[in-house]
Formats: sequence, structure tokens, C-alpha cells
Amino acid sequence: MITEKIQSLLEETAALTATTAKEVEDLRIHYLGRKGVMNDLMAEFRELPQETKREVGQKLNQLKQSIQAQLDTLRKNLPAEDGKKDALDLTRTPYPTPLGSRHPLTLVRNEIIEIFSRLGFVLADGPEIEDDWHVFSSMNFPADHPARDMQDTFFIARQPDIVLRTHTSSVQSRVMETTQPPIRVICPGRVYRNEAISARAHCFFHQVEGLYIDKHVSFADLKQVLLTFARELFGEGTQIRLRPSYFPFTEPSAEMDISCHICGGKGCAFCKQTGWVEILGCGMVDPAVLEANGIDSKEYKGYAFGMGVERITNLKYRVKDLRLFSENDVRFLDQFVGEGF
Ligand code: PHE
Repeated sequence: MITEKIQSLLEETAALTATTAKEVEDLRIHYLGRKGVMNDLMAEFRELPQETKREVGQKLNQLKQSIQAQLDTLRKNLPAEDGKKDALDLTRTPYPTPLGSRHPLTLVRNEIIEIFSRLGFVLADGPEIEDDWHVFSSMNFPADHPARDMQDTFFIARQPDIVLRTHTSSVQSRVMETTQPPIRVICPGRVYRNEAISARAHCFFHQVEGLYIDKHVSFADLKQVLLTFARELFGEGTQIRLRPSYFPFTEPSAEMDISCHICGGKGCAFCKQTGWVEILGCGMVDPAVLEANGIDSKEYKGYAFGMGVERITNLKYRVKDLRLFSENDVRFLDQFVGEGF
């Protein structure tokens, strides 16, 4: 009987499923297509006696609407990728991707590390928040010695004193307390001093520290290593000069100048017409520092040096205002695209 067929088709089509657009289309053709199930029913319907046509006609309409609604739902619920399959055009020209750049301070730091690692120095690291012992006491700064004022210190806590390290020399102490000589380390890092921020000073900057301890280490070794370093970094013709100086942790101590990279030693605004610019402090490690850090000063000697990365970067790239280094202005940073490693 036709009404039973309609009933079972209602149930059958309500349970239809599909996972692709093609499956939905195949179902549509099967049920609603020109040679489909509905069409066969219509043929049967036309043969019915007049008195039943009205009732069966309504049921057929209901069935048709129900199938249509079911197909619509199936189409709507298809997994998204299927509908978007053609959206990815692999032949299209790609958008240009902007290249990033290394920060100039990173470029210069890496270059310094690379030069010293070729000379046999290995990397060492230490915390930026440091105790008084590693920053001052172990480095031979007596408790009330005015030398502590040389470096305006940011205190985190008092008694026991915890500070933001004012120099990377604190890492010397950390290395010595855990390692026996020979020691040959290079320690790059950020340091902090309580200074008003201007074009020429900042409350944080970067240093690279070097420390060499072994049985027969002399000031001549220090001088030769620094000369090699200066020529590697600034070029073959670079001259160095060492001026006597004072640091609590080295004796004797010196400051090193290099011939001005900008005017070639003739005198310019950068070197204040002297032809020389200071780039680092250095000296022979004071025996008191070796002893304070558990190294026998009768057996071992050492040298140390420390330099400011900003200063060297200014020399190499002629950056006039220190504040540019920490402002993250892309107009500044973009200028270093493709420089170094
Ligand atoms: N720590 C010194 C400073 O910050 C630099 C230095 C390091 C000097 C090692 C001598 C030896 O000024």
C-alpha cells in the first residue's frame, strides 16, 4: 500500500547521514531526482482512485518537505574543510615576510664572545639580583670603604644586603668559589647603577667580564690578549694604551683606551679631540680576592677585565643616544637587519 511506503520512507529518510557534499547530492538525486523515489511514488499516486487522492496527496507533500529539510540539515552540518577545500591557492604569490634583526647590543656581545672563545675562554653566567658578598665583599670592597660609592647601588633588601649587581665582577666570584684553576671564563650580562637617565647614562647597561687564573699569568699576557681582542673587533690598525687606574679587586689596575675608531686617531668630537677612547678596565686579580674565593694566591695568579657593551656598540655603530638601546623603536632596530649573527 502506498501509505505504508510513505510511512517507511519518512522513517528511512529521517535517519540519513552524510559526511561530504557529494554524498548529500547523491541522496538528493536518489530521493528527489527526476528518476528518484519520489517520482515513482507520484506515478503510483496518479493511478489511485479519486477518493483516496486527497489524503495520500497530503502525506506525499509531507514526505517531500521532510526529505528536503533533512538534506538541508545534512548540508549545513558538513565538516568545515570539505566546504573550504578550494580556498587554499598554492599558486598565489606569497606576501613578503618582514625580516627581523638582532639587537645591536646582542650583535656586539656575540662578536665579543666569539673573539674570546677563539682565545679559549668559556661562557659563565650569574644572577642579576645578587648578595653583597658576591658583588662587593668577595671582590675586596671593605665594609665602609668609599670604593662602594664608585658604583651607585640599587638595594633590593638590607641586612643581609641584596642588590642589583653593579658589575659582572660578581660572576668572577661565583666561578672561583665552585671551580679550581685553570679558569678562563667570559661573563656577559646586564648590570644596574642608580644614575639619572640621559643620552650618555642609563640605570642599566651591559658588560662583558673576563677572568683568567693559572699558575704563571702575567700582566704581559693580559696586554697581549687585549691587543688581539681590540684588533679583532676594530681592525688590524687599532692601537691600545693602558693607563694606571684603581679597582678594589685588581692590583695593579689599568684602564684601556683604543685609538679612536671614528677619526682614526686624529681627534674628533667622539674622542674629545684626544684620538683615544676608553673601552675597558682591567688588572691583575688582587691576591686578597683569590683568597676570599678559596684559591691559593701563592700558587695561582690571574688577570681580569671588564668592558661596557653599549660603549663598544656606540663606537662600532655611532649610536649617539644610549636611550635608543632600550626603547625598542623599530625605525632604529630595522637598521640592523642583516648585520652579523
Ligand atoms: N668591574 C669593573 C667596573 O664595572 C670593571 C673591571 C672588571 C675592572 C675587571 C677590572 C677588572 O667598572
